[in-house]
Amino acid sequence: MSGLFEGIPFVENPLYERIILDIATQKYSIIDDFFKDEDVLALRTSLLKKYEDDAFKKSAIGNKTNEVVKKAIRGDIILWMDERFCNVEEQLFFNKINDLKDYLNRTCFLGINQKEFHYAIYPKGTFYKRHLDTFMNDDRRRLSFVCYLNSEDWEPKNGGELVLYLEHEAKTVYPFPGKVVIFESNVLEHEVKPVNTPRLSITGWLKTR
Ligand code: OGA
Ligand code: MN
Repeated sequence: MSGLFEGIPFVENPLYERIILDIATQKYSIIDDFFKDEDVLALRTSLLKKYEDDAFKKSAIGNKTNEVVKKAIRGDIILWMDERFCNVEEQLFFNKINDLKDYLNRTCFLGINQKEFHYAIYPKGTFYKRHLDTFMNDDRRRLSFVCYLNSEDWEPKNGGELVLYLEHEAKTVYPFPGKVVIFESNVLEHEVKPVNTPRLSITGWLKTR
């Protein structure tokens, strides 16, 4: 072989190939071991530390009227992540995200050139009503990505299930620690059921311009 790709062997990544096949056939993919257990724990610790430092509160925006309306739809509190100023565990997180993004662009020509991620905490009693991630604010979102950072002893009775509304069925996903869910932002409606125990995650989107 000669030319542009000479000397750059293309190595298929079985995990990424499975994700691509899943999304192509069923609009979503669920991966239990996308991140190592120790990295999930480090990210959980990072989230909790930022919460204790009040970083979530400082990032809250919007006036009071908006807040009431918002709470009827979603009750999570979030903290946007900034790749330029991230800690070691967040850098590991973004390295994996960037690797996946590059693979998708190279093999599926998705043209993803932007991303946005935030930590999320759902306090007891909160939820996120059925919605589409492209609704109102952003139609550039192509893929939604969620990674749960709950504790090791998380149980189904803690609530906070993610429900994916597929064409003919509703798929319930329990937010066990380390579980990653990736789905098509502009086609798959979903909701977060009421939470009985604080529920922790990182959520984000891979976007086109
Ligand atoms: C969202 C969302 C799902 C989840 O933040 O838009 O739908 O399981 N999150 O946290
Ligand atoms: Mn959503």
